Amino acid sequence: MMAANPTVHLAPLSLSAKVVGSFAYLTVKDRMPTILTKVIDTIHRNKNQFLEQYGEEGIEAEKQTISLLSKLRNEMQTDKPILALTDELSDTEAWNRYLQRHQEQQGDQESVSWFKSPWLYVECYMYRRIHEALWLHPPISDYDVFNEGKTRTYFESQQAVMSLCSYFEGVRQNMEGLAQNQLFEYFNSLLQVSLWGNKCDLSVSSGQDNSQKTSPIDSLSSLQPFILVDDSELVWSTLTSGQPGKSSAGRVDIVLDNAGFELVTDLVFADFLISSGLVSEIHFHGKSFPWFVSDVTANDFQWTIRQTMAANHKYMSKSGAQWQRYLKEGVWSYHDHPFWTQPHEYCDMEAEAPDLYRKLQGADLVLFKGDLNYRKLTGDRDWDHMVSFGAALRGFGPSPLCVLRTLKANVQVGLQLGQAEKLTSEDPNWMTTGMYAVIQFNSPKSEE
Ligand code: F6P
Ligand code: MG
Repeated sequence: MMAANPTVHLAPLSLSAKVVGSFAYLTVKDRMPTILTKVIDTIHRNKNQFLEQYGEEGIEAEKQTISLLSKLRNEMQTDKPILALTDELSDTEAWNRYLQRHQEQQGDQESVSWFKSPWLYVECYMYRRIHEALWLHPPISDYDVFNEGKTRTYFESQQAVMSLCSYFEGVRQNMEGLAQNQLFEYFNSLLQVSLWGNKCDLSVSSGQDNSQKTSPIDSLSSLQPFILVDDSELVWSTLTSGQPGKSSAGRVDIVLDNAGFELVTDLVFADFLISSGLVSEIHFHGKSFPWFVSDVTANDFQWTIRQTMAANHKYMSKSGAQWQRYLKEGVWSYHDHPFWTQPHEYCDMEAEAPDLYRKLQGADLVLFKGDLNYRKLTGDRDWDHMVSFGAALRGFGPSPLCVLRTLKANVQVGLQLGQAEKLTSEDPNWMTTGMYAVIQFNSPKSEE
């Protein structure tokens, strides 16, 4: 157990909310060492696989990696200073610059330690250090320690995937000549399925089973009261308003979150956007190394599509084949950028990753999935719940954007008067249980 530390850091920004918490934040402090212990365990359990694949060299790499990770766990549990990275990867300098800036702000290196630094930073840093520990030890550098969990949840969600693909087949067959309001009904259902898909992440459950077992469509109406903010109509108007000379919204970018069932819900929603003609192109953004236990990497993305295509279920395999075609034809494309696996808040994107910012400016709508994206969008600050979503973005607005997020961390903006108080009286942990969700939209135009 770690010592409690109530330090809350002042935001280095003009708006006055504080960052949500230090690493000592109660629900988190036990989860991070648990995740790290599981990582060590997974590498150790796979020793024989490394031996078979690489011989003695593989075993040596396993030992060295475990030794670095055990050291990391000790640093974390005893509140040691955050260390600079040593792996000389393309993002190493950016990470070390971030640390240096933080040390300068705090006045000394000791103060930037595990318990005293913002949770968002140290949590991201832990995943980057896991990546470093593996990277420094070829031949196992590319080993994805979270792969087992990600594939397991995909298979555990099979029933739900089958019923979703069957439902979507019905939608696809019914699509021609539909009235706008009927199309909106389908749009809304699939948007909500993608929203609730975000319940299934492995980071919040420290890797335990968190898969979807029941039909996602059947649960939608009972889940409706748990959507605290629902801007779906604004998203719909963005997609359907049409610009002169353009029949559809053009391009939607989806900043993905978790692999497994959530990714399937995102792919089905993306398929709907294309096959309905609402959108002509989709860019998916994933992570360039294993991140927050279940986040999608390029490998997970390809694997999920291949696996769905190979399924022994008519409508699953039909969907998988369609997705593969979209990729081949360039209607869909997968992208990654080092910025997504850095600790920056998104209001810093324009300065820190101008190329990515410019790319997102080319989208007509950017959909952000999940809790971590929400924390980065809002800077993980202790906002008054009635501050508007637009204000909490603090100038971030490459394009109209929408976040689909189930609540797992202590930050929530854009609520009505009295809404938060009512929720707190019913359940003081309403912001961290994953039971509630938001669909929040902002357009840079409405900020002008
Ligand atoms: O609550 C623990 C946590 O790791 C948060 O840091 C993070 O916000 C969340 O889980 C991950 O959730 P998601 O996959 O929805 O981003
Ligand atoms: Mg995630």
